[in-house]
Amino acid sequence: MNKPNKNSLANYLHTKKDEGKEKHVPVIYCPEEVTAGEIFEIKIAIGEEVPHPNTWEHHIKWIQVFVKEENKEPVHVATFDLGPTIAEPKVTVAMKLNKSATIHAVEYCNIHGLWESYAEIKVSG
Ligand SMILES: [Fe+2]
Repeated sequence: MNKPNKNSLANYLHTKKDEGKEKHVPVIYCPEEVTAGEIFEIKIAIGEEVPHPNTWEHHIKWIQVFVKEENKEPVHVATFDLGPTIAEPKVTVAMKLNKSATIHAVEYCNIHGLWESYAEIKVSG
């Protein structure tokens, strides 16, 4: 992939290397390997090490999950739109895969922007 244009949103997608005191990077809990077509659950959590603030002024607004198989475009799996102060940024989604893929989690903090992480899942059978 080419380096993003200086105006591209991709320049503002933070990763673990950008992490400061607060923990914004989504932590993905998923099996390393699943059977093709088998339903399994993944959990995405923000603030596992240091809790992220959850106030009207500063909160995790949404979490999105994508799946990307090799040589294909990412496919949207789920969007979680979180209400501040009550909903915690810890979500679970049931899913299934037919081919090995990378799970991408993206979250938006209303002050600190977009953060992403990813995990590989191997599909057997
Ligand atoms: Fe934040």
